[in-house]
Amino acid sequence: VNESPIPVSRCLDPFAGSGTTALACQFLGVRPTTIELNPYLADLVEAKLACYDSDALADSLGKVVKALHRSTRSTPFLFRDAPPTLIEPGHNGRWIFDRAVATRISALLDAIGRLTNVDHVRLFRVLLGGILIDISNVVVSGKGRRYRRRWSERELDPRVVEQRFSEAAQRAIAEIHRYSKRACTEYDLLRGDCRELLTRRMTYDLAVFSPPYPNSFDYTDVYNVELWTLGYLSSRTDNTTLRTATLCSHVQIARQFPSPPVGSVTLDRMLARLVRQRPFLWDHRIPEMVGGYFADMALVLKRVREALANQGLAWIVVGDSRYSTVRVRTGRILAELAQSDSWTLRAMEPCRSMRASAQQGGRRELSETLLVLQR
Ligand SMILES: C[S@@+](CC[C@H](N)C(=O)[O-])C[C@H]1O[C@@H](n2cnc3c(N)ncnc32)[C@H](O)[C@@H]1O
Repeated sequence: VNESPIPVSRCLDPFAGSGTTALACQFLGVRPTTIELNPYLADLVEAKLACYDSDALADSLGKVVKALHRSTRSTPFLFRDAPPTLIEPGHNGRWIFDRAVATRISALLDAIGRLTNVDHVRLFRVLLGGILIDISNVVVSGKGRRYRRRWSERELDPRVVEQRFSEAAQRAIAEIHRYSKRACTEYDLLRGDCRELLTRRMTYDLAVFSPPYPNSFDYTDVYNVELWTLGYLSSRTDNTTLRTATLCSHVQIARQFPSPPVGSVTLDRMLARLVRQRPFLWDHRIPEMVGGYFADMALVLKRVREALANQGLAWIVVGDSRYSTVRVRTGRILAELAQSDSWTLRAMEPCRSMRASAQQGGRRELSETLLVLQR
């Protein structure tokens, strides 16, 4: 944002994730607008962007801890609609939270929910979300979620719930106090699908973002424990609806993929090679998913362009993927699609290399690219 050659008073990030662009903008005195589909992440972003009185927060934390200590509930409540794997005795002998731990989590959620200040409720729920994996029987990495080694032998003292939560909340309150004087304290957070929410209503000088990559990484699935435990999902249908509203960057659910866009020779050639490789792909729908991903991204680029002021810039970081022997050059394809839709390509630079998936040998060979496009 600081390196922008044009003056910036409003900046857009249509894929907020954990809110990096928006928060950085606040520090730099630029009003951010950001969009996020995943409701847990949207709350996480808002928890970071909002302003608080740190004394009032400390007071609310005291109330939550007191209420938790008074709680005598001996069974987990609040999780009635969650999948059976969430809580012991689980499903097929596996569960994510031990029963005693789940009981304390529900007591903590109940205590937080009794606060009257909605900003405090959101912040404390998000902080609880941040410790959930630590106090569960699973770990989450770039490859997804798996059970810890020898998880069933690990006996977790349920008091770990309040300990970890209090530590996280105290750290957060100290940071909130330290960074309360941000150059801009305003923000606009839109919750939902950016393809629908990007309209011409507002004009931006700059867009800085990193969309999902066509690498079969499903952000909804990665945050499933937080989404179910904190009550953002209450049925399988909710889960499917959310997963289908994300960009076509994964094949894990059955869905209709949009047809590939026209305008990129690299995309056409790559898709033809992917179709020829279909018998060797780990999922036969990969060619359609990759084509659908670029259709989604062509639409996002079009909407971002419409939302920018004349000469406005978009700085976009994207990563390549590989399926069988076929490399998906995401940066190059998006640059070609953008140029066929009246954008001017100002720069295309490799910015770091990523490790390929274990199935592909895990070598550092996939690059991330920074694209700078101008309206
Ligand atoms: C690569 S991450 C963004 C990371 C972000 N730059 C950060 O620093 O945390 C992509 C994000 O896009 C979100 N997303 C996926 N499809 C979306 C859609 N249709 N509309 C809005 N957000 C979407 C995902 O939930 C995910 O959080």
